[in-house]
Amino acid sequence: MYTQSFNVPDGSGKTVPLAPSNEDPALQAAFDVRIDADGRIEPQDWMPDAYRKTLVRQISQHAHSEIVGMLPEGNWISRAPSLKRKAILIAKVQDEGGHGLYLYSAAETLGTSRDQMLAGLHSGRAKYSSIFNYPTLTWADVGVIGWLVDGAAIMNQVPLCRCSYGPYARAMVRVCKEESFHQRQGYEALLVMMTGTEEQKAMVQDAVNRWWWKCLAMFGPPDADSPNSAQGMRWGIKRVSNDELRQKFVDATVPQAKVLGVTLPDPDLKWNEERGHHDYGQIDWNEFWETVNGNGPCNKERLATRVKAHDEGQWVRDAALAYAAKQQARSIKEAA
Ligand SMILES: [Fe+2]
Ligand SMILES: [Fe+2]
Repeated sequence: MYTQSFNVPDGSGKTVPLAPSNEDPALQAAFDVRIDADGRIEPQDWMPDAYRKTLVRQISQHAHSEIVGMLPEGNWISRAPSLKRKAILIAKVQDEGGHGLYLYSAAETLGTSRDQMLAGLHSGRAKYSSIFNYPTLTWADVGVIGWLVDGAAIMNQVPLCRCSYGPYARAMVRVCKEESFHQRQGYEALLVMMTGTEEQKAMVQDAVNRWWWKCLAMFGPPDADSPNSAQGMRWGIKRVSNDELRQKFVDATVPQAKVLGVTLPDPDLKWNEERGHHDYGQIDWNEFWETVNGNGPCNKERLATRVKAHDEGQWVRDAALAYAAKQQARSIKEAA
Protein backbone atom coordinates (compact mmCIF):
# COMPACT_ATOMS: atom_id res chain seq x y z
CA MET A 1 0.00 0.00 0.00
CA TYR A 2 1.79 3.19 0.67
CA THR A 3 3.69 4.91 1.09
CA GLN A 4 4.29 8.26 2.42
CA SER A 5 7.84 8.88 1.41
CA PHE A 6 8.29 5.73 3.59
CA ASN A 7 11.44 7.09 4.96
CA VAL A 8 10.73 9.24 7.95
CA PRO A 9 13.20 9.14 10.82
CA ASP A 10 12.44 6.32 13.24
CA GLY A 11 12.54 6.61 17.00
CA SER A 12 16.09 5.33 17.31
CA GLY A 13 17.49 8.84 17.27
CA LYS A 14 19.97 7.79 14.60
CA THR A 15 20.19 9.80 11.43
CA VAL A 16 21.56 8.52 8.17
CA PRO A 17 24.77 10.33 7.27
CA LEU A 18 24.46 12.38 4.12
CA ALA A 19 28.07 12.37 3.05
CA PRO A 20 29.28 9.57 0.77
CA SER A 21 31.10 6.82 2.59
CA ASN A 22 34.88 6.63 2.79
CA GLU A 23 34.82 3.05 4.08
CA ASP A 24 36.66 1.75 1.04
CA PRO A 25 37.45 4.26 -1.71
CA ALA A 26 37.95 1.65 -4.48
CA LEU A 27 34.70 -0.16 -3.73
CA GLN A 28 32.93 3.16 -3.28
CA ALA A 29 34.16 4.28 -6.70
CA ALA A 30 32.88 1.07 -8.32
CA PHE A 31 29.53 1.52 -6.55
CA ASP A 32 29.28 5.13 -7.76
CA VAL A 33 30.04 4.10 -11.34
CA ARG A 34 27.25 1.56 -11.23
CA ILE A 35 24.78 4.03 -9.72
CA ASP A 36 25.74 6.69 -12.29
CA ALA A 37 25.14 4.19 -15.10
CA ASP A 38 21.69 3.46 -13.60
CA GLY A 39 22.75 -0.09 -12.81
CA ARG A 40 21.33 -2.35 -10.12
CA ILE A 41 22.89 -3.18 -6.79
CA GLU A 42 22.31 -6.77 -5.67
CA PRO A 43 22.54 -8.26 -2.15
CA GLN A 44 26.00 -9.79 -2.70
CA ASP A 45 27.45 -6.49 -3.97
CA TRP A 46 29.44 -4.10 -1.81
CA MET A 47 27.45 -1.06 -0.80
CA PRO A 48 28.12 1.87 1.54
CA ASP A 49 26.80 1.36 5.02
CA ALA A 50 24.52 4.41 4.80
CA TYR A 51 22.94 3.08 1.57
CA ARG A 52 22.24 -0.24 3.32
CA LYS A 53 20.79 1.47 6.41
CA THR A 54 18.61 3.79 4.34
CA LEU A 55 17.21 0.85 2.40
CA VAL A 56 16.56 -1.23 5.51
CA ARG A 57 14.70 1.69 7.04
CA GLN A 58 12.69 2.48 3.91
CA ILE A 59 11.84 -1.11 2.96
CA SER A 60 10.93 -2.13 6.51
CA GLN A 61 8.73 0.98 6.93
CA HIS A 62 7.09 0.06 3.65
CA ALA A 63 6.57 -3.55 4.82
CA HIS A 64 5.10 -2.39 8.15
CA SER A 65 2.75 -0.08 6.25
CA GLU A 66 1.43 -2.96 4.15
CA ILE A 67 0.81 -5.09 7.24
CA VAL A 68 -0.77 -2.36 9.37
CA GLY A 69 -2.67 -1.25 6.25
CA MET A 70 -4.61 -4.51 6.43
CA LEU A 71 -6.29 -3.39 9.65
CA PRO A 72 -8.55 -0.42 8.72
CA GLU A 73 -10.11 -2.32 5.83
CA GLY A 74 -10.00 -5.71 7.54
CA ASN A 75 -12.51 -4.18 9.96
CA TRP A 76 -15.05 -4.15 7.11
CA ILE A 77 -14.71 -7.70 5.79
CA SER A 78 -17.50 -9.00 8.02
CA ARG A 79 -19.70 -6.00 7.20
CA ALA A 80 -19.28 -5.77 3.41
CA PRO A 81 -22.65 -5.04 1.79
CA SER A 82 -22.64 -8.04 -0.58
CA LEU A 83 -20.86 -11.33 -1.24
CA LYS A 84 -19.15 -9.76 -4.26
CA ARG A 85 -17.79 -6.82 -2.25
CA LYS A 86 -16.70 -9.17 0.53
CA ALA A 87 -14.77 -11.39 -1.92
CA ILE A 88 -13.05 -8.35 -3.47
CA LEU A 89 -12.15 -6.92 -0.07
CA ILE A 90 -10.76 -10.22 1.22
CA ALA A 91 -8.59 -10.47 -1.92
CA LYS A 92 -7.34 -6.92 -1.47
CA VAL A 93 -6.50 -7.26 2.23
CA GLN A 94 -4.75 -10.55 1.47
CA ASP A 95 -2.71 -8.84 -1.26
CA GLU A 96 -1.54 -6.27 1.29
CA GLY A 97 -0.35 -9.08 3.56
CA GLY A 98 1.55 -10.53 0.58
CA HIS A 99 3.14 -7.14 -0.14
CA GLY A 100 4.37 -6.97 3.44
CA LEU A 101 5.92 -10.42 3.15
CA TYR A 102 7.75 -9.66 -0.13
CA LEU A 103 9.09 -6.49 1.41
CA TYR A 104 10.29 -8.12 4.63
CA SER A 105 12.09 -10.65 2.42
CA ALA A 106 13.65 -7.85 0.36
CA ALA A 107 14.83 -6.11 3.55
CA GLU A 108 16.23 -9.40 4.91
CA THR A 109 18.61 -9.57 1.93
CA LEU A 110 20.32 -6.52 3.47
CA GLY A 111 21.24 -8.48 6.58
CA THR A 112 18.47 -7.47 8.99
CA SER A 113 16.30 -10.25 10.39
CA ARG A 114 12.54 -10.23 10.26
CA ASP A 115 12.47 -10.61 14.04
CA GLN A 116 14.47 -7.38 14.39
CA MET A 117 12.14 -5.53 12.05
CA LEU A 118 9.01 -6.82 13.78
CA ALA A 119 10.45 -5.95 17.19
CA GLY A 120 10.88 -2.38 15.93
CA LEU A 121 7.27 -2.24 14.78
CA HIS A 122 5.80 -3.84 17.88
CA SER A 123 7.72 -1.61 20.27
CA GLY A 124 6.44 1.50 18.45
CA ARG A 125 10.00 2.51 17.47
CA ALA A 126 9.64 1.83 13.74
CA LYS A 127 7.29 3.92 11.64
CA TYR A 128 4.63 2.99 9.15
CA SER A 129 2.47 5.11 6.88
CA SER A 130 0.51 7.49 9.09
CA ILE A 131 -2.58 7.17 6.86
CA PHE A 132 -3.49 3.92 8.64
CA ASN A 133 -3.90 5.68 11.97
CA TYR A 134 -7.28 7.06 10.97
CA PRO A 135 -10.57 5.21 11.48
CA THR A 136 -12.76 3.70 8.74
CA LEU A 137 -16.17 4.99 9.81
CA THR A 138 -18.43 3.85 6.97
CA TRP A 139 -18.44 1.45 4.02
CA ALA A 140 -17.64 4.41 1.73
CA ASP A 141 -14.26 4.66 3.48
CA VAL A 142 -13.32 1.29 1.97
CA GLY A 143 -13.99 2.64 -1.53
CA VAL A 144 -12.19 5.91 -0.83
CA ILE A 145 -9.16 4.09 0.58
CA GLY A 146 -8.94 2.06 -2.63
CA TRP A 147 -9.38 5.07 -4.86
CA LEU A 148 -7.22 7.62 -3.02
CA VAL A 149 -4.90 5.76 -0.64
CA ASP A 150 -4.00 2.98 -3.06
CA GLY A 151 -3.99 5.59 -5.84
CA ALA A 152 -1.42 7.64 -3.93
CA ALA A 153 0.56 4.48 -3.19
CA ILE A 154 0.75 3.70 -6.93
CA MET A 155 2.12 7.18 -7.65
CA ASN A 156 4.80 6.58 -5.04
CA GLN A 157 5.58 3.01 -5.94
CA VAL A 158 5.77 3.04 -9.74
CA PRO A 159 9.08 4.98 -9.64
CA LEU A 160 10.36 2.45 -7.05
CA CYS A 161 10.23 -0.24 -9.78
CA ARG A 162 13.37 1.56 -11.06
CA CYS A 163 15.02 1.71 -7.62
CA SER A 164 18.74 0.93 -7.69
CA TYR A 165 18.42 -1.93 -5.20
CA GLY A 166 17.42 -5.01 -7.22
CA PRO A 167 15.26 -6.97 -4.73
CA TYR A 168 13.21 -3.87 -3.82
CA ALA A 169 12.71 -2.87 -7.47
CA ARG A 170 11.60 -6.37 -8.48
CA ALA A 171 9.18 -6.68 -5.56
CA MET A 172 7.62 -3.39 -6.61
CA VAL A 173 6.77 -4.62 -10.11
CA ARG A 174 4.30 -7.18 -8.82
CA VAL A 175 3.11 -4.97 -5.97
CA CYS A 176 2.21 -2.19 -8.43
CA LYS A 177 0.12 -4.54 -10.57
CA GLU A 178 -1.89 -5.49 -7.50
CA GLU A 179 -2.18 -1.88 -6.32
CA SER A 180 -3.74 -1.04 -9.65
CA PHE A 181 -6.51 -3.57 -8.94
CA HIS A 182 -6.94 -2.04 -5.47
CA GLN A 183 -7.38 1.44 -6.90
CA ARG A 184 -9.87 0.28 -9.53
CA GLN A 185 -12.01 -1.76 -7.16
CA GLY A 186 -12.28 1.25 -4.84
CA TYR A 187 -13.21 3.64 -7.61
CA GLU A 188 -15.73 1.20 -9.05
CA ALA A 189 -17.38 0.69 -5.65
CA LEU A 190 -17.73 4.48 -5.32
CA LEU A 191 -19.14 4.85 -8.85
CA VAL A 192 -21.86 2.35 -7.91
CA MET A 193 -22.63 4.16 -4.64
CA MET A 194 -22.87 7.47 -6.49
CA THR A 195 -25.74 6.05 -8.58
CA GLY A 196 -27.56 5.12 -5.35
CA THR A 197 -29.59 7.02 -2.77
CA GLU A 198 -28.89 10.52 -1.46
CA GLU A 199 -27.63 8.94 1.77
CA GLN A 200 -25.12 6.84 -0.16
CA LYS A 201 -23.87 9.86 -2.12
CA ALA A 202 -23.52 11.84 1.10
CA MET A 203 -21.58 8.96 2.64
CA VAL A 204 -19.11 8.99 -0.27
CA GLN A 205 -18.65 12.77 -0.06
CA ASP A 206 -18.12 12.57 3.70
CA ALA A 207 -15.44 9.89 3.26
CA VAL A 208 -13.70 11.97 0.57
CA ASN A 209 -13.76 14.98 2.90
CA ARG A 210 -12.11 13.01 5.68
CA TRP A 211 -9.43 11.29 3.58
CA TRP A 212 -8.37 13.85 0.94
CA TRP A 213 -5.88 15.90 2.97
CA LYS A 214 -4.43 12.85 4.66
CA CYS A 215 -3.75 11.34 1.24
CA LEU A 216 -1.88 14.46 0.13
CA ALA A 217 0.27 14.20 3.27
CA MET A 218 1.11 10.56 2.36
CA PHE A 219 3.70 11.85 -0.10
CA GLY A 220 5.75 13.11 2.80
CA PRO A 221 6.97 16.57 3.82
CA PRO A 222 7.61 19.28 1.19
CA ASP A 223 10.91 18.89 -0.68
CA ALA A 224 12.36 21.86 1.19
CA ASP A 225 11.83 19.99 4.49
CA SER A 226 13.07 16.58 3.29
CA PRO A 227 16.80 16.64 3.93
CA ASN A 228 17.30 12.94 3.13
CA SER A 229 15.60 13.15 -0.25
CA ALA A 230 18.63 14.47 -2.13
CA GLN A 231 20.78 11.56 -0.98
CA GLY A 232 18.00 9.09 -1.84
CA MET A 233 17.89 10.58 -5.34
CA ARG A 234 21.68 10.43 -5.66
CA TRP A 235 21.56 6.73 -4.80
CA GLY A 236 18.77 6.00 -7.27
CA ILE A 237 16.47 4.90 -4.45
CA LYS A 238 14.12 7.81 -4.86
CA ARG A 239 13.41 8.87 -8.43
CA VAL A 240 10.76 11.57 -8.10
CA SER A 241 10.49 14.18 -5.33
CA ASN A 242 7.66 14.29 -2.77
CA ASP A 243 6.20 17.52 -4.18
CA GLU A 244 6.35 16.30 -7.78
CA LEU A 245 4.56 13.07 -6.85
CA ARG A 246 1.94 14.97 -4.87
CA GLN A 247 1.33 17.28 -7.84
CA LYS A 248 0.96 14.30 -10.20
CA PHE A 249 -1.54 12.75 -7.81
CA VAL A 250 -3.62 15.94 -7.58
CA ASP A 251 -3.60 16.39 -11.37
CA ALA A 252 -4.65 12.78 -11.94
CA THR A 253 -7.36 12.79 -9.27
CA VAL A 254 -9.22 16.00 -10.11
CA PRO A 255 -10.79 14.62 -13.35
CA GLN A 256 -11.62 11.33 -11.58
CA ALA A 257 -13.48 13.26 -8.87
CA LYS A 258 -15.43 15.06 -11.57
CA VAL A 259 -16.53 11.79 -13.20
CA LEU A 260 -17.49 10.45 -9.78
CA GLY A 261 -19.46 13.58 -8.93
CA VAL A 262 -17.72 14.44 -5.66
CA THR A 263 -16.09 17.67 -4.53
CA LEU A 264 -12.50 17.61 -3.30
CA PRO A 265 -12.54 19.58 -0.02
CA ASP A 266 -10.10 22.34 -0.96
CA PRO A 267 -11.34 25.85 -1.86
CA ASP A 268 -7.89 26.66 -3.25
CA LEU A 269 -7.89 23.77 -5.70
CA LYS A 270 -7.89 25.20 -9.23
CA TRP A 271 -6.19 24.78 -12.58
CA ASN A 272 -3.17 27.01 -13.08
CA GLU A 273 -2.81 27.66 -16.80
CA GLU A 274 0.69 29.02 -16.46
CA ARG A 275 2.08 26.05 -14.53
CA GLY A 276 0.01 23.50 -16.41
CA HIS A 277 -0.95 21.98 -13.05
CA HIS A 278 -3.58 22.34 -10.36
CA ASP A 279 -2.82 24.63 -7.44
CA TYR A 280 -3.91 23.33 -4.05
CA GLY A 281 -4.15 24.57 -0.47
CA GLN A 282 -1.96 24.17 2.60
CA ILE A 283 -1.47 20.72 4.15
CA ASP A 284 -1.63 20.56 7.95
CA TRP A 285 1.88 19.25 8.67
CA ASN A 286 1.39 19.55 12.43
CA GLU A 287 -1.33 16.97 12.26
CA PHE A 288 0.85 14.77 10.06
CA TRP A 289 3.78 14.81 12.49
CA GLU A 290 1.51 14.33 15.50
CA THR A 291 0.17 11.17 13.85
CA VAL A 292 3.59 9.95 12.73
CA ASN A 293 4.78 10.41 16.30
CA GLY A 294 2.10 8.19 17.76
CA ASN A 295 -0.70 10.62 18.59
CA GLY A 296 -3.16 10.01 15.76
CA PRO A 297 -6.68 8.75 16.50
CA CYS A 298 -5.90 5.03 16.03
CA ASN A 299 -2.13 4.61 16.61
CA LYS A 300 -2.51 2.76 19.89
CA GLU A 301 -5.35 0.58 18.67
CA ARG A 302 -3.50 -0.41 15.47
CA LEU A 303 -0.34 -1.32 17.32
CA ALA A 304 -2.21 -3.28 19.99
CA THR A 305 -4.13 -5.23 17.32
CA ARG A 306 -0.91 -5.98 15.46
CA VAL A 307 0.92 -7.16 18.60
CA LYS A 308 -2.05 -9.33 19.63
CA ALA A 309 -2.16 -10.96 16.17
CA HIS A 310 1.57 -11.63 16.34
CA ASP A 311 1.33 -13.17 19.81
CA GLU A 312 -1.66 -15.29 18.87
CA GLY A 313 0.21 -16.55 15.81
CA GLN A 314 3.11 -17.83 17.88
CA TRP A 315 1.79 -21.41 17.82
CA VAL A 316 1.78 -21.36 14.00
CA ARG A 317 5.45 -20.34 13.90
CA ASP A 318 6.28 -22.93 16.58
CA ALA A 319 4.46 -25.64 14.62
CA ALA A 320 6.24 -24.72 11.37
CA LEU A 321 9.62 -24.82 13.12
CA ALA A 322 8.84 -28.18 14.79
CA TYR A 323 7.80 -29.60 11.43
CA ALA A 324 10.94 -28.30 9.73
CA ALA A 325 13.10 -29.81 12.50
CA LYS A 326 11.30 -33.15 12.13
CA GLN A 327 11.84 -33.15 8.36
CA GLN A 328 15.48 -32.27 8.78
CA ALA A 329 15.98 -35.09 11.30
CA ARG A 330 14.30 -37.50 8.89
CA SER A 331 16.51 -36.51 5.95
CA ILE A 332 19.66 -36.83 8.08
CA LYS A 333 18.51 -40.31 9.15
CA GLU A 334 17.79 -41.31 5.55
CA ALA A 335 21.18 -40.05 4.40
CA ALA A 336 22.95 -42.03 7.12
FE1 LIG B 1 -3.09 -1.70 -1.91
FE1 LIG C 1 -0.01 -2.89 -0.92
